[in-house]
Amino acid sequence: MAAFDDRVVLVTGASSGIGAACARAFAREGARLLLAARRVERIRAEAPRLSGLGARDVRAVRLDTRDYDAVRAALGDLPAEWEEIDVLVNNAGLSRGLASLHEGSLDDWNEMIDTNVKGLLHVDRVVVPGMAARRRGTVVHVGSIAGRQAYPGGNVYCGTKAAVKAITDGLRIDLLGTGVRVATVDPGMVRTEFSEVRFHGDRERADSVYRGMTPLAADDVAEVVVWIASRPAHVQIAEVVVLPADQASATHVHRRT
Ligand SMILES: NC(=O)c1ccc[n+]([C@@H]2O[C@H](COP(=O)([O-])OP(=O)(O)OC[C@H]3O[C@@H](n4cnc5c(N)ncnc54)[C@H](OP(=O)(O)O)[C@@H]3O)[C@@H](O)[C@H]2O)c1
Repeated sequence: MAAFDDRVVLVTGASSGIGAACARAFAREGARLLLAARRVERIRAEAPRLSGLGARDVRAVRLDTRDYDAVRAALGDLPAEWEEIDVLVNNAGLSRGLASLHEGSLDDWNEMIDTNVKGLLHVDRVVVPGMAARRRGTVVHVGSIAGRQAYPGGNVYCGTKAAVKAITDGLRIDLLGTGVRVATVDPGMVRTEFSEVRFHGDRERADSVYRGMTPLAADDVAEVVVWIASRPAHVQIAEVVVLPADQASATHVHRRT
C-alpha cells in the first residue's frame, strides 16, 4: 500500500514548477489529487501521466487564489469524495520584478501581495476548518529563503515570504491540540518558470539567474514536501530550508563561469 493511498491531497499552483512536481510525487504515493491553478488546461493535459504514476484520481480546478469568493466556491463545496482534504500544499505564488523599492511598480507589488499573502490565506481559510474538525491533516506552505533574508531588489517579494513564515507560525499555534500539522518549506534557487515570471517573460534574463551554478529541481522540493506529510502523526516538521549545494544564502551563490 502506498503512503497516501486514496487520501486527498490539494496542491495550489499545480500547473508548473514545484506544484506540478508535488502532484507527481504524491501521485507516486497513490494520492487522490485535487490540483488547482489558473491554467487548468495544463493540469488536464498532465492528468493521464499522473494516473500512470499511481494517482487514484485527479480533479483539476481552475482557480485564481487572489479571489476569495472563487476559492470558497471551488474548494468550500466539494463533492463528498473530495471533501476530506488530508494534505494541503499551499504553493501558488510568484515574484514580479527586481527593482529597488523606491523605483518599484505598484502593479508588481499588488500582484505579489495578493497572490503570496492573501491568496495563501484564502486557501487556508477555506480548507483548514475541515482539517481542524476532523482532527487530522497537514498544511505545507511553500515559503522561500527570501522570507528569511532580504536581497537586492527582493524587497516586496521578501516581505511577502516573511509574511508566509509568520502566518505559518501563527497557524501552527492556533491549531495546537487539533492534530493538524503545519510546515513551511523554504527553498533557495529552484529551476522552474519562476524567473521567467519574475522578468515578465524575458527568457534570457531568466536563464542568467542560473548561469554557472546548479539550482534545485522542482522534484527536489517535492520530495521534501512528501517527506513532511508522511511523518508519523505525532511528528510535526515545522520548517525546512532547502538550498542548492551551490548556494549558501540569498546572496552567496557559487558560479563556475
Ligand atoms: N523557483 C524558485 O526559485 C523558488 C524559490 C523559493 C520559493 N519559491 C516559491 O515556490 C512557489 C512555486 O513557484 P515555482 O518556482 O514552482 O514557480 P512557477 O513554475 O512559476 O509556478 C508557480 C505556480 O503558481 C501558480 N499561480 C501563480 N499565481 C496564481 C494565482 N493567482 N492563482 C492560482 N495559482 C497561481 C501558477 O499557476 P497559473 O499561472 O497557472 O495560475 C503556477 O502553477 C511560489 O510560492 C514561489 O514563491 C520558488
